[in-house]
Amino acid sequence: MRQTTGIALEELTVLVTGSQRGLGLALVHELSARGTRVYAGHRSAGVPAELDLPGVTPVFMELGATPLPRLPDVDYVVNNAGINRNTPLDSPQATQVLDEELRTNVLGTLNLIHHYLPRLAGRPAAGFVNIISALAIDPNYFCATYSASKAALHSLCVSLRQVAGDKGFHVLNVYPTAIDTRLTDGLAIPKLAPAEVARAIVDAWSAGDCELFFQ
Ligand SMILES: NC(=O)c1ccc[n+]([C@@H]2O[C@H](COP(=O)([O-])OP(=O)(O)OC[C@H]3O[C@@H](n4cnc5c(N)ncnc54)[C@H](OP(=O)(O)O)[C@@H]3O)[C@@H](O)[C@H]2O)c1
Repeated sequence: MRQTTGIALEELTVLVTGSQRGLGLALVHELSARGTRVYAGHRSAGVPAELDLPGVTPVFMELGATPLPRLPDVDYVVNNAGINRNTPLDSPQATQVLDEELRTNVLGTLNLIHHYLPRLAGRPAAGFVNIISALAIDPNYFCATYSASKAALHSLCVSLRQVAGDKGFHVLNVYPTAIDTRLTDGLAIPKLAPAEVARAIVDAWSAGDCELFFQ
């Protein structure tokens, strides 16, 4: 799915959540290299050294906590922060874990969308990039609760495309397969390199695409 026009990333200021490591950090590197100004959301006590990059401003941000930073010059929000507790459906902890995963992956993200949606009004090019998961569409028994949380996020992000589209905003929903980050530590499965996934996301974003799936 594609919008009609491309997007000049070098003219944008974007916020990336969960950017201290993993895919978020790879996205910050890729955007910085392309001349985009980046607010790099992290939740460390100090300023993380890995975010010392050209055009990058670290900003403390914990999903679900208040207040959220105002950042009035933000054009795009990249909803990347997420958790996976690798919990199967029949685990005695499944209910509790699903609650925790929903709080971060769904409610935390929705809260951030609510915070920034009105603030994007009037920006010439604006929108959201949402890091969902292939497991939202094709769930895995071994992380059933995470898959369910991402299915809920997928549903909200499809609705967001409608709401945001009516306001002239762009929404790119991304469905990666397994990536080699802390989230998949210890899993003996084929994994994509974070830098490769980040490059594909930023390419799709600059092309104005609305969905990105991986093989
Ligand atoms: N890895 C995969 O196979 C895979 C596949 C498909 C989709 N995804 C999605 O890609 C996104 C990035 O994941 P990743 O693989 O890069 O995992 P990761 O290495 O575990 O990184 C997750 C990031 O999210 C942050 N985070 C978690 N909960 C947060 C909260 N409540 N508030 C603020 N930040 C929070 C973490 O911060 P801390 O460092 O402080 O914990 C960390 O920076 C996630 O949405 C994940 O679901 C990953």
